[in-house]
Amino acid sequence: AAPRLALGQGAAFPSRPITMVIPFAPGGPTDIVGRLMAEAMTKEIGQPVVVENTTGAGGTLGAQRVATARPDGYTVLLHHIGMGVIPTMYRRLSYDPVNGFEPLGLVTEVPMTLVTRKDIPANNLAELVAYMKAQGDRFNLADAGIGSSSALCGALLANAIGVKPTVIPFRGTGPAMQEILGGRVDLLCDQTTQTTEYIRAGQVKVFATPSRHRIATLPEIPTTTEAGLPGFEVTVWHGLYAPRGTPAPVCARLTQSLQAALREPRIVQRFAEIGTAPVSQADATPEAHRRFWTADIAKWKPVIEATASFAD
Ligand code: MLT
Repeated sequence: AAPRLALGQGAAFPSRPITMVIPFAPGGPTDIVGRLMAEAMTKEIGQPVVVENTTGAGGTLGAQRVATARPDGYTVLLHHIGMGVIPTMYRRLSYDPVNGFEPLGLVTEVPMTLVTRKDIPANNLAELVAYMKAQGDRFNLADAGIGSSSALCGALLANAIGVKPTVIPFRGTGPAMQEILGGRVDLLCDQTTQTTEYIRAGQVKVFATPSRHRIATLPEIPTTTEAGLPGFEVTVWHGLYAPRGTPAPVCARLTQSLQAALREPRIVQRFAEIGTAPVSQADATPEAHRRFWTADIAKWKPVIEATASFAD
């Protein structure tokens, strides 16, 4: 290895701040999870873990930023299910979406919710489906671009209903949610880490969760299957990555910090308030992360290839 990468005698890692790249806009679900993790890791690792939102192109620009960064542990990526779908959704990328990274460990799994502007003229999923069919392309749907979970969920929803709404992409669902709150956009599929607050405050209408089970913290919301729209399920998982080639001892130190952060009472409590939970310590490992990620790519490939909206 090049000398700068060798952790020789006495060479401490980290000796300066670490940049945590978040591939979506500030204020949204990935940013919320990432900032909580960065704060907890800062305490444990003894150097600031500084969040940088590198947004755009459905999360691929942030991923590219880390895949092409110096592999020294000072640039890490907090990304989500996009890592499982981007390898199939994008034919050409300027980075390797699989081999460009060292997985360090899983972070959390977050349920999604289908929310709309508060004044939509529908009061259950069947009425919403009827309204979407009647509106056709006058109905609009916000997402965070191809590769995001909101886009995946939105496309599967449209496909299941057999409609072609107008899709309005944002750099993250943080800004997309502002348009829902302002009544300028109709629908957003988004994670409980952001939507819980607005659902509880009655600032959006919520119709269903595309999960196998109801959400423990929002048990009144039916699953899409219960509400009459079976056939698709999306749950968003998050993981931490270093660039490929980051030395093993540096990766191990980052994984150790990730695991400690996930045990922090504040993380456990805040995650619970926003409808999620840290993964087990066994899942916060490179091995479990790689296994899960590989299986997720294989799981989504046929689904994406069979979904009309992605063939456009
Ligand atoms: C975000 O953080 O903005 C979202 O996770 C993007 C998405 O996947 O929809």
